[in-house]
Amino acid sequence: MEMSEAVAVASGEFTIGGDLTVRRLGYGTMQLPGEGVWGEPRDPDEAVRVLRRAVELGVNFIDTADAYGPFVADLLLKKALHPYPEGLVIATKAGFARTGPGGWVPIGRPEYLRQQVELSLRHLGLERIDLLQLHRIDPKVPLADQVGELATLQQEGKIRHLGLSQVSVAQLEEATKTAPIVSVQNLYNLSQRDDEPVLEYAEQNGLGFIPWFPLATGGLAKAGGPLDAIAREHDASPSQLALAWLLKRSPVMLPIPGTSSVAHVEDNVNAAKINLTDDEFARLTEAVD
Ligand SMILES: NC(=O)c1ccc[n+]([C@@H]2O[C@H](COP(=O)([O-])OP(=O)(O)OC[C@H]3O[C@@H](n4cnc5c(N)ncnc54)[C@H](OP(=O)(O)O)[C@@H]3O)[C@@H](O)[C@H]2O)c1
Repeated sequence: MEMSEAVAVASGEFTIGGDLTVRRLGYGTMQLPGEGVWGEPRDPDEAVRVLRRAVELGVNFIDTADAYGPFVADLLLKKALHPYPEGLVIATKAGFARTGPGGWVPIGRPEYLRQQVELSLRHLGLERIDLLQLHRIDPKVPLADQVGELATLQQEGKIRHLGLSQVSVAQLEEATKTAPIVSVQNLYNLSQRDDEPVLEYAEQNGLGFIPWFPLATGGLAKAGGPLDAIAREHDASPSQLALAWLLKRSPVMLPIPGTSSVAHVEDNVNAAKINLTDDEFARLTEAVD
């Protein structure tokens, strides 16, 4: 692989919200903070190298969240990449409080969401967030109040587009009554496909579908996993096959594999070059069914 090759280009493009075009194979920052997505990275220098390498390889869609660290991932993004290269889209989230390593509590009170958006702008060094996703719907707060506050921030020019995370079709429809929703980020990968109806809704309504845990938190990437034998036949890594399967599954699919290592980011972005045939796609689907 050429060191300067922008391989992510080969994954094709998707336009979020009608005006935000990104390469479909992106990167997610959740593996960068410490254990339990809490605190400083185990290897801060490698974390910076991972982010720079992803962009060097042509990735221009990076998913992050205030809650990753908290704030650790956003500050790393700023350190590694600010001033951001033209065309780089940082999608972030708000709506989770962190109570300690592994502790996640949804908070959708409007004043909290506003605070977190303001903090994200500061930590990321941005004047406007391209895509702000409500990380979780807080069941204790009316959805219209949560989306409504984000829509107000959008009207104030602090957010360009709104997305939702881990929602049902009914919740997407309900949220859309308050503000336009351009993307949905749900758990989805070759081995976890419960949210097909949400993916179909995204396809029918032109939303980007951002599958979180695209590698099943590494379960699909590991040696000896369900994709290992097929991967060896194809001279590819298991991770690459899992990502190539997602890219073929739908033109609205925007996978954001997470890793804390440069070697793995290189491996993952090279999935963009793999074009599965219909037979290969079916075989992978059956292999993990
Ligand atoms: N909206 C939500 O609620 C939500 C929830 C979870 C995640 N997310 C987003 O989705 C992104 C992806 O999820 P994720 O990072 O948790 O899980 P993932 O992408 O499914 O898998 C990450 C795991 O796979 C390993 N891995 C990555 N590439 C590999 C490779 N080429 N070979 C072998 N192992 C590899 C990583 O370890 P190494 O670090 O050692 O590479 C890590 O343990 C996150 O970064 C985050 O942006 C969103």
